[in-house]
Amino acid sequence: EAAEKGGYDTYMLKEIYEQPVALTNTLIGRLHDETGEVNLDINLNPASFKRISIIACGTAYYAGLVGEYLIEQLARVPVEVDVASEYRYRSPLVSEDTLAIVVSQSGETIDTLEALREAKKFGAKTLGVINAKGSSMTRELDDTLYIHAGPEIGVASTKAYTSMVSAFMLLALWLGRARGTLGEDLGRELLHATRELPRLVEEALAPERVEKIKQIAEKYSGARDYLFLGRGVNAPTAFEGALKLKEISYIHAEAYAAGEMKHGPIALIDEHLPVVVVATESFLLEKTISNVQEVRARSGKVIAILSDGDTENARHADDVIYVPHAHEMVSPIVNAVAMQLLAYHTATALGKDVDKPRNLAKSVTVE
Ligand code: G6P
Repeated sequence: EAAEKGGYDTYMLKEIYEQPVALTNTLIGRLHDETGEVNLDINLNPASFKRISIIACGTAYYAGLVGEYLIEQLARVPVEVDVASEYRYRSPLVSEDTLAIVVSQSGETIDTLEALREAKKFGAKTLGVINAKGSSMTRELDDTLYIHAGPEIGVASTKAYTSMVSAFMLLALWLGRARGTLGEDLGRELLHATRELPRLVEEALAPERVEKIKQIAEKYSGARDYLFLGRGVNAPTAFEGALKLKEISYIHAEAYAAGEMKHGPIALIDEHLPVVVVATESFLLEKTISNVQEVRARSGKVIAILSDGDTENARHADDVIYVPHAHEMVSPIVNAVAMQLLAYHTATALGKDVDKPRNLAKSVTVE
């Protein structure tokens, strides 16, 4: 087993560090700089549907939320996202005009598999964003966009998440081009930004950055609750950050779209509450910073995730995690790495077994 962990203490840590390679494998052969084209090797006719339903569970569901944002922005198709266990039972409005996209690392999660069957029953076209080759879902899907992240063993998903989000970026670019909604310039800009991802994630894993996150994790490891905030394409980053922390450290954490804080969670803020805020470069950054100030004014402890060099906003935070500059639309992938490391080092500071968190299974094949 030690050999399988490749010198790392845990599978989870190994998989966190595998992300630059996993992302390279997600992207390889699919982006063409000269032509600006994206090649996904799927048969799907991009003009054959009017709306998209994304269906998934757990971490894959959060990847789907980023997917919704990217596809709606770039391809201008209406998208809804459901947790599979809800979709199955809510008589979804699905027809031949629908593209159902299921997202799954294992391809075996029973709720997602049954939701796929439900969508097919009503004539939806189906596409999977899947890691495991030849898994049950892939046998029933019209098309599969493999994420090629390699085997993931740690129960808490890491590299599969960042590869799923990258696959959604590819899909959004492909759809945007095919449907004529994505301008040439933005298309090229995003293609380059996407190609940069393995390098940016490698940079996000630099030893001095990890050490800083470890110190912050240790400093707040005695907290009973955590709040995570993010906006826009990074709202799901906050959700995924809270999920990761809960799963492996057993610290209660919740996440909100930052603008929604004033409608409830603000009542929880006191000097005992660490609040992780995704505040990387964004057209919404000013609004996020004003949320940070609201947390500060109530003595909450702000852990801000900022883009490198943003010393201006650092003064509003108790602690800062700097991440490499990334185009906003791909920033969820880079920011997720900081979330994973924060959860990981909190759990290890508390002596938890991160590869086998209590009550959780890698793949849930019973309802
Ligand atoms: C379980 C795992 C999660 C995972 C979810 C969905 O709950 O513990 O890490 O995100 O299943 O799994 P899937 O294989 O469908 O992505």
